Amino acid sequence: MSTLSKIDLKKTPQHIAIIMDGNGRWAKKQGEVRLFGHTSGVEAVREVLKGCVDMGVRYLTLYAFSTENWNRPKEEVDGLMNLMVETIANEVDELNSNNVRLRSIGDESKLPDACRNELAKAKNATYSNSGVDLILALNYSARWEMLNAVQNIAKKVERGEIKANAITKSSFENELCMNDVPDPELLIRTSGEYRLSNFLLWQIAYAELYFTDKLWPDFSREDLFKAVLDYQGRERRFGKVSEQLIN
Ligand code: FPP
Repeated sequence: MSTLSKIDLKKTPQHIAIIMDGNGRWAKKQGEVRLFGHTSGVEAVREVLKGCVDMGVRYLTLYAFSTENWNRPKEEVDGLMNLMVETIANEVDELNSNNVRLRSIGDESKLPDACRNELAKAKNATYSNSGVDLILALNYSARWEMLNAVQNIAKKVERGEIKANAITKSSFENELCMNDVPDPELLIRTSGEYRLSNFLLWQIAYAELYFTDKLWPDFSREDLFKAVLDYQGRERRFGKVSEQLIN
């Protein structure tokens, strides 16, 4: 019996976020260069996306390239950027046939022109899709995002548009990248590492965290279902006690 049949589809997370880790180690195990791991990781992205379509998950956010990833060897950075361009261009038809809308978060201004252009084309071509929003975090980090939000709010205060003591949780969240998207209920990280690596630090305040030893290219649709099933077995208390949740 597939794990999908054990999942309560009325209670799947609306938003799943994933730190796709382990491509380099996966490639090394095959005696290949790191880029081969990233290329193979694209198939896992397709699988996970289809899994989200199967379960009716509304938002999937993937950490594809962090602001710190620029520090990797130039060959790997260039290879990753080319892979993004190729993948985004090749997948548009598939995204459309699965009713997936492509979005991104992060500082796009620093991405190579080819990547920005392909991203813009694919976003336009998938804009009206309403099944799953696939949100790629590209040149993203949570500290960048939060600093950016603080700067925007400070400018509003300087212009006299708002008072400093009128800044609320909601006005702060309005300045974040995904201000129309509910917070992820489930964050998955592959490859046996137990870190958040500067990903969505504000939004995951109450997310359930799921870690697996699987390296990203080996992560399958079935693995995603297992993560969701595990999530469904958890009690989410949001600071309350169990007895309060029953009522
Ligand atoms: C982390 O593994 C993975 C990345 C930094 C890149 C992930 C990108 C992809 C899977 C390509 C996806 C493309 C699209 C368009 C979504 P790592 O290199 O840190 O692995 P390691 O820890 O084993 O070295």
